[in-house]
Amino acid sequence: MELSEHIAGMSERKQHTLRRAHEYLMPNRVETWLGAGIPLVIGRREGYRIWDVDGHELLDLHLNGGTYNLGHRHPALLETLRAGLEELDVGNHHFPSEARAALAEQLAQRTPGDLHYSVFTASGTEANDVAIRSARHATGRRKIVTLDAGFHGTAGLAGAAGRDDTARYFHSDYPTEFATVPFDDLGAIEKALAGGDVAAVLLETIPATYGFPIPSPDYLPGVKALCEQHGTLYVADEVQTGLGRTGQLWAVEAYGIEPDILITGKGLSGGLYPVSAVVMTREVGAWLVEKGWGYVSTFGGAELGCLVGARALELCSQPDALANATAMSALLGRGLDALRSRHPFLVGVRRQGLVMGLETDHPMGAVRLSRALYARGVWAMFAGFDLSVLQWKPGLLVDEAYCTDLLERLDAALGDVENEG
Ligand SMILES: Cc1ncc(COP(=O)(O)O)c(C=O)c1O
Repeated sequence: MELSEHIAGMSERKQHTLRRAHEYLMPNRVETWLGAGIPLVIGRREGYRIWDVDGHELLDLHLNGGTYNLGHRHPALLETLRAGLEELDVGNHHFPSEARAALAEQLAQRTPGDLHYSVFTASGTEANDVAIRSARHATGRRKIVTLDAGFHGTAGLAGAAGRDDTARYFHSDYPTEFATVPFDDLGAIEKALAGGDVAAVLLETIPATYGFPIPSPDYLPGVKALCEQHGTLYVADEVQTGLGRTGQLWAVEAYGIEPDILITGKGLSGGLYPVSAVVMTREVGAWLVEKGWGYVSTFGGAELGCLVGARALELCSQPDALANATAMSALLGRGLDALRSRHPFLVGVRRQGLVMGLETDHPMGAVRLSRALYARGVWAMFAGFDLSVLQWKPGLLVDEAYCTDLLERLDAALGDVENEG
């Protein structure tokens, strides 16, 4: 790509950034975004809005997978972080600390069933990796079953779980140790577990990168029952679906599931200081009793992250916030149904709380819609594993005016795409 052609007319500041990013950082991504008509370089950010460095205002419907569930730079989280910076730093991961112990206690109290021990990591990927290791140690088995359209990160064992084409690209897949099954297919799970050699089934409760297809009501409880029958652990990856996004603190709660391991990340950081967590039952986390240094990470459980995480978890757990998610989901659901009846391009709406996917009538339709929305002032991203579906992910604290504005912009963008022919 001839970069200068694509960036002509942009401010000097933006051109300078794009040139350097293209040269030193992410050549393929820069070309892909410019080619897709989404030349975003994020500058100012506040609440559920972001501004391109050239001033283009966007409603943020991507939220970096829920990282900004509470909004960008939430005042209470900023206050917590600033206060922490007066006294603390990352801390020393070899020792207990007040901030780490407090967040671990809160997670044990706020997660379903008997989840008890936490291990903190910097990223969701590492949290999934620790979950897999823990499940293997607890069961003495190596095999992990995931969805073929699941996503749990791109590094280590997490990178080999779910769709593993990136792992294969880097010769980092483990085909004999990771098996995949299609979404919502209980028979396939039954078959995969029948050999009695599976350590864990690792599932996103509603698979994000696949476009948030909503599982049939009996699917996840059926998987859990099969896990119990075969001595296999149930691992819930709630990196995108947890922290109130579905109207309950954890999406598994809607299915009455008490997982053996739960993973949270993204929004736990408040978008301000990285922190993710694996929460395990006493049985699964028994290795913590005997092998204290079984997992070590300098930045896993950084004290500043734990302070922010505890505050974020508290805010996401508030009944008002959860009720708002349900109310705004219903309001948006009505609006989206109305748009669907008028726009043939929008063929379906997937929705559980504020976790939504918009189905379009074309295999690449979500890429087109994403571009049209960008021009209309909304940043919403297509689902990486199904480009016909647009991820539609409003934040936990959005209000009616914001949702109305959003629906108007979507209406206009759908019209734009339909007029393109
Ligand atoms: C469901 C799910 N699990 C795990 C991850 C990995 O998290 P991280 O990017 O923090 O490593 C992601 C990231 O998008 C995700 O969507």
